[in-house]
Amino acid sequence: MNDPSFFQCISCFKKYDLHEIRYRCDCGDLLDVIHDLEYYIPNPKKWVECLNLSKDYSFKRYKKILLPSIPEESLITLFEGDTPLYDITDRFPQFKKIMLKHEGMNPTLSFKDRGMVAGVSWANYLGCKNIICASTGDTSAAMAAFSGSSKTLRGIVLLPKGKISPEQLAQAISYGALTIGIETDFDGCMKLVQEITSKHNIYLLNSMNSIRIEGQKAIGIETLHQLNWNVPDWFVIPVGNAGNISALGKGLRELYTLGIINKLPRLAGIQAEGSSPLAHSFKNNFNELIPQKAKSTKASAIQIGNPVSYKKAVREIKYFNGYVESVTENEIMDWKAQVDKLGISICPNSSVAMAGAIKLYDKNIIKKTDNVVAIMTAHGSKFSNTAVEYHQDSENKFSNLIKFISPDISNLENALNL
Ligand code: F0G
Repeated sequence: MNDPSFFQCISCFKKYDLHEIRYRCDCGDLLDVIHDLEYYIPNPKKWVECLNLSKDYSFKRYKKILLPSIPEESLITLFEGDTPLYDITDRFPQFKKIMLKHEGMNPTLSFKDRGMVAGVSWANYLGCKNIICASTGDTSAAMAAFSGSSKTLRGIVLLPKGKISPEQLAQAISYGALTIGIETDFDGCMKLVQEITSKHNIYLLNSMNSIRIEGQKAIGIETLHQLNWNVPDWFVIPVGNAGNISALGKGLRELYTLGIINKLPRLAGIQAEGSSPLAHSFKNNFNELIPQKAKSTKASAIQIGNPVSYKKAVREIKYFNGYVESVTENEIMDWKAQVDKLGISICPNSSVAMAGAIKLYDKNIIKKTDNVVAIMTAHGSKFSNTAVEYHQDSENKFSNLIKFISPDISNLENALNL
């Protein structure tokens, strides 16, 4: 295959054919997908003009920088992307500007559709029959939807039993995936997925598959396009397995290399306190990753103790002069309530980014003069139990208690304070 794009090891830089099914280098480390950007985008200015005129859906619009090698007829899309960028500065005027990129407004209600349009389309292109992932609930929902949409692929999802929301579980089974619950945590499921795909001809679609990372780059690229390529000072993003922060960084680096942006933002990765191996490692200058037994958190999608994309994330955080922070359960739920109340329904994992942005502002790491974009990774409707529980408890700072009355006009008048 004579393709200008190829896999390259992030450590020893050994190269491999992109059309080979491969997730790691022979040395054991992760792979990047490297594109010859000068070949695909010889005139970046002209490319940007084409983007402005394009009526294509997001992945197809940015395909030259995401996955130029895939033929259009192999694409499987649910018309993901083109998600809103909300400016909420009027409610949070401590920031010069704060915007939320709401990836929960994708077809399966999370950012995972961005990676799956690339990953599942690539599996389709390679002629795979079975695709598999381990998941805390959103990857599985997205993979199940895209495999459901294909004519030939069978989706298999491995889920940590009892650790994902009922809505996320409903997505996997309704979209028709073979759904397997396992008495373990996400890290345990991830280990099994790696074992089964090394023994059998089943295509792995977790974010350690670097084709998926290429699709996820679209989140940052689309945000900057919406901002007319004006670069914010900070991108703030929740971190679990660390694929998304790696994708964000890689996409931004490539835009910078092409000269489409002329400034680099800073990246802030935020974790839930009980599952914060990256934040701990950051405090030790990234000397080493000490895997944790991830503790239960309302941000269950990022309850991950041994992030697979750790090394890629560290590379991006160093390159973008980044910062890693963790937030408490109260911070997560209180900030979720405050964002939800704006009519912008976010999940607890997204709220980790919002709470993190506020914390970094309070620590004077994010300055008063900074423009901030926080990535909201999934929709609140995927986690309705956590919202109902929060609002039922009067002890919670921003709770909105339901009033129960008998069917009587005077009781209703009392309830309305009339
Ligand atoms: N936010 C949500 C809603 C997620 O579902 C995830 C990860 C993340 C943030 C963190 O992204 O792992 O790339 O650092 N969910 C995966 C899953 C693990 O299986 O759905 P990350």
